[in-house]
Amino acid sequence: MAPVCVLVGVMGAGKTSTGLLVASGLGVDFRDTDSDIEARAGKPIPEIFVDDGEEHFRTLERDAVATALASFDGVLALGGGAILAEENRAALAGHRVIYLSVELTDAVKRVGLGTGRPLLAINPRATLKHLLDQRRPLYTEVASQTVVTDGRTPEQVAEEILAGLANDRVG
Ligand code: S3P
Repeated sequence: MAPVCVLVGVMGAGKTSTGLLVASGLGVDFRDTDSDIEARAGKPIPEIFVDDGEEHFRTLERDAVATALASFDGVLALGGGAILAEENRAALAGHRVIYLSVELTDAVKRVGLGTGRPLLAINPRATLKHLLDQRRPLYTEVASQTVVTDGRTPEQVAEEILAGLANDRVG
């Protein structure tokens, strides 16, 4: 069993909103490793960071990624930092991985005040710039397809993804 596709990208790329639309267009389930982690820990991500630290969060994230890749056949979104772990990047090999790319201006607009995102609690713009610069090559490394999301709605992005998936099935 494998996900139909796996969405990756930085916070603000629109992985959840787009993923829900793609899943609904395909009539399959949507799953998000962030929600799996929260369910397992029994608390929201900001509390995991505060109580247990980022390292513990990343351990839970590696487990969540491995479990979802092996047992879920819908549309899967990974948390923005999942690709930092070599183990996760290796696990993505052979999957249809779609990188939702976004540049700083749109990412900042979309994350707003960053509520619920502990990494953006202080100076969200500078942090996002740093994360984008650091992670862009890693997203590109794992991606089988890149979809640019700047200036586009989740509906437009989902439409492009659905068209690509339909094309693949025909061809
Ligand atoms: C993180 C992104 C978040 C969440 C956590 C850490 C990151 O997910 O996993 O706050 O390191 O970029 P989203 O990208 O879904 O917001």
